[in-house]
Amino acid sequence: MIKIDTAGARTFITDDLYKEGYDKALHAFKQVVDASGPGNNWLGWRRILKQPNDAELERISRHAEQIRDDADLFIVCGIGGSFTGAKAIIDALAPIFSHNGPEILYAGHHMGGKYLKQLLDYLKSPKSNGEPKSVYLNVISKSGSTLETALAFRAIRTWMHEFYGESAKDRIIATTGETGGVLNNIVDEEGYHKYVIPDDIGGRFSVLTPVGLLPVSVAGIDIQTLYYGAVSEYKTNENNPEKILEYATIRYILQKTGYALDVIGSFEPELAGFTGWTQQLLGESEGKEGKGLFPATAMFSTDLHSIGQMIQQGKRNMLEILFVVEKEISDLEISEASTNVDGLKYLEGKSYHDINHSAQEGTVQAHLEGGVPVIKIIIEKLNAQQIGEFIYFYELFTAVYVYMLEVNPFNQPGVENYKQAMYRLLGKK
Ligand code: PA5
Repeated sequence: MIKIDTAGARTFITDDLYKEGYDKALHAFKQVVDASGPGNNWLGWRRILKQPNDAELERISRHAEQIRDDADLFIVCGIGGSFTGAKAIIDALAPIFSHNGPEILYAGHHMGGKYLKQLLDYLKSPKSNGEPKSVYLNVISKSGSTLETALAFRAIRTWMHEFYGESAKDRIIATTGETGGVLNNIVDEEGYHKYVIPDDIGGRFSVLTPVGLLPVSVAGIDIQTLYYGAVSEYKTNENNPEKILEYATIRYILQKTGYALDVIGSFEPELAGFTGWTQQLLGESEGKEGKGLFPATAMFSTDLHSIGQMIQQGKRNMLEILFVVEKEISDLEISEASTNVDGLKYLEGKSYHDINHSAQEGTVQAHLEGGVPVIKIIIEKLNAQQIGEFIYFYELFTAVYVYMLEVNPFNQPGVENYKQAMYRLLGKK
């Protein structure tokens, strides 16, 4: 179960304001549960946990196992909600430098030509034993028409068809909407394997559909445990949403009283992907009608040496959310040395976990003294179960909090503006 610690933020809010916010949070929570708020046809991320589809989980796991047996490289081609969640889970749970399955690569998440060209060169280059690489491609796009993804997909699948001939179709998997969109036309024409993104689930809420589950399973992560972690957090919060209400109340009142920035950080490098996932989830959901906190990300302690100064003493309009892992992720200790020439003898025998923890607690103290409210979101252990819990916790939190702002969390009308301008410049009819 995900825990929160709001002690470092609660003191920034008067009891009267807290009460006002809490009533609003309760109302917003009911809107989510009763499906009575704006965008209530986009609540499929709750439906799939209420009635888990074990057959689909099984089907994805089996397919992923086949891919793991055969692939050297597995490319996830998508952008925004169509890749951020899978990457966050893989970064959190898969080994960092060695993998006993395929290497997972990403494409279609920007328009950098150098990256795509070098990716193609890498796919084409033989393995160290001289044999060609076995490449699989998972293109993920709910709309089936996002330009970044479509361009990378075209380049990679063209090469795959040239290189693998007929069998390319067994290596290309499309994850897209049930019907419509260019990608569905391509799937129909080429006969690629297809996974469906349910109509009632938007991109940034789709990580527990095949969008996230297939890549994560190919990376060797147990998706049943992950999924049922989310199911357990779903059940916990249906009966007792207190921590969601508390967190939503504090964040709501802070933005109402002039706070503008939410720094989402962690001292665990494994959670960097999740700071990005949360940034997207919150940013695309709340940033509408002139409302919302700007969600910034920070990786500590690295960023204490860059934006740490700003957090400590810059404009006082930010709060900070820290993703904390309680149990140690690694048992690495500071080794003994024969001399104290580096002045580090006092740390000998201490674990990296303890040192990182001291850095974290020292930073919390300093930031509180600097006038920054700090909320901790606590994961007990970094494993598939708790990452599943964390995902649902944040999906529910986002929906409740954004309903408090009285906007629809599930659309992103502003994203269209850059697309229209870009297409105009590119001469699209
Ligand atoms: O949350 C969202 O809906 C977006 O971030 C989308 O996931 C992103 O724009 C990609 O869209 P699509 O999956 O249609 O290519």
